[in-house]
Amino acid sequence: MKAFPAHIDLKGRSVLIIGGGAEALAKARLMLAADAALSLVAPKFSADLLAELKGKVRLIERDPVVADVEAAALLFIADTQEAEARRWAEVARMAGVLLNVVDQPALCDFTTPSIIDRGRVTVSISTGGAAPVLGKKLRADIEALLPPQLGSLADFADRYRETVKATIAREDRRRFWEAFFDGPIAAQVLAGDEKGAHEAMLALINRPHTEEMAEEKTGTVHIVGAGPGDPDLLTIKALRLLQRADVILHDRLVSDDILSLARRDAERLYVGKAKSNHSVPQEEIEARLIALAREGKTVVRLKGGDPFVFGRGGEELDALRKAGIPAFVTPGVTAATGCAAAANMALTHRDCAQAVTFVTGHAKGEADPALDWSALAALKNTLVVYMGVTKAETIAGKLIAHGRGAETPVAVIENGTRENQKIVKGALGELAALIETGGIKGPAVLVIGEVAARADGETLADLALKERLVA
Ligand SMILES: C[S@@+](CC[C@H](N)C(=O)[O-])C[C@H]1O[C@@H](n2cnc3c(N)ncnc32)[C@H](O)[C@@H]1O
Repeated sequence: MKAFPAHIDLKGRSVLIIGGGAEALAKARLMLAADAALSLVAPKFSADLLAELKGKVRLIERDPVVADVEAAALLFIADTQEAEARRWAEVARMAGVLLNVVDQPALCDFTTPSIIDRGRVTVSISTGGAAPVLGKKLRADIEALLPPQLGSLADFADRYRETVKATIAREDRRRFWEAFFDGPIAAQVLAGDEKGAHEAMLALINRPHTEEMAEEKTGTVHIVGAGPGDPDLLTIKALRLLQRADVILHDRLVSDDILSLARRDAERLYVGKAKSNHSVPQEEIEARLIALAREGKTVVRLKGGDPFVFGRGGEELDALRKAGIPAFVTPGVTAATGCAAAANMALTHRDCAQAVTFVTGHAKGEADPALDWSALAALKNTLVVYMGVTKAETIAGKLIAHGRGAETPVAVIENGTRENQKIVKGALGELAALIETGGIKGPAVLVIGEVAARADGETLADLALKERLVA
């Protein structure tokens, strides 16, 4: 270990910064966040520094003197020429004051780490002054893993520390806290439901704690949207949950690239449903989620796109709630918005649409989708049809029969945001031909409305030309 990490309580301690420019301002921000009694001394302060710090810290506009350094617990030297910095470093050393000289690790007693600040919880990363940029990169990686509410969780636990001490035997306490941090109450705090968490915590503390009860565990289920396919479109929260999960139940539309981001030893269960081939019935998926949670596991139910948009996430949430399992929902980028971005087509472009409607083209068995065609045809908005490829001809026919013009622009986006993405575009009257000639099999969305003319895609003429060139 090059340098020993210690988290110092600087509240009210005297810290001095010699310097009056941008480097001094950056260090001042850090020291203010740590509640230090901060003074800055320099012959001249920059306008930016004065604007930000005036009234918050002691600003002494003159040359520093030895007595300034001697009065400090910590000293920073910033925006100062090397020879001058060395002179003050010498003074600091004689006075026994710990010193940091910006960008001069050789002169430093301590370096400032890259910091992840979650209130009471702080993580600091040091490269011993050797590679600050690497430190910053690591910080970004770790930031993504740590929930923003981690500080609230530490505060929450702190509020119950004494009560737990008074009610739970010393030998059971560690196990109690381990179960707490892995369990549903902590998940509730992290999900922002502090009120519910307090109620659950009081109930937990007030019930008798026998050996058996300490063993009893309840897991949690997170219903999580995986987005349309590109792993970069996962939310930071989804990524964090994937890296904490014990078990992941996923659909067909969740790509391997996304699954590869999960914790390596997480169990993966495929419960996907290909169209007309319901490999695992919905009730069985719900029963599995409940059973796994009752085993005390952290379960992620990972669904393509957004779990609440044609994803049956609502049914799963109802079933979990009915069974008394703590369940939380993390949204995802739905196919409509993901595909629109992939095709560079704004779904509500101001010049041509003021509204957007998402519908499903899927119906039970071979039946036609039971949609209110006259309402949909009358709406002068953008219509996005999910699961509409096999019924595309019927959908176009019904819309035209109910008054939507055959010349209305359409775009079909298959595997949007993935490497094998395909986009074709044309008119509503030729939708079936576009799908046939474009070799569209799905998953795909049909976008019907003026905005579709703006999609980056191939027309029937482009496809014909391509075919001729290949032949
Ligand atoms: C059962 S729905 C699930 C929708 C999902 N919950 C969402 O919010 O995107 C499956 C349909 O979503 C659409 N879909 C999902 N991912 C897609 C993608 N990457 N590109 C195009 N369409 C997609 C297709 O219409 C597919 O048939």
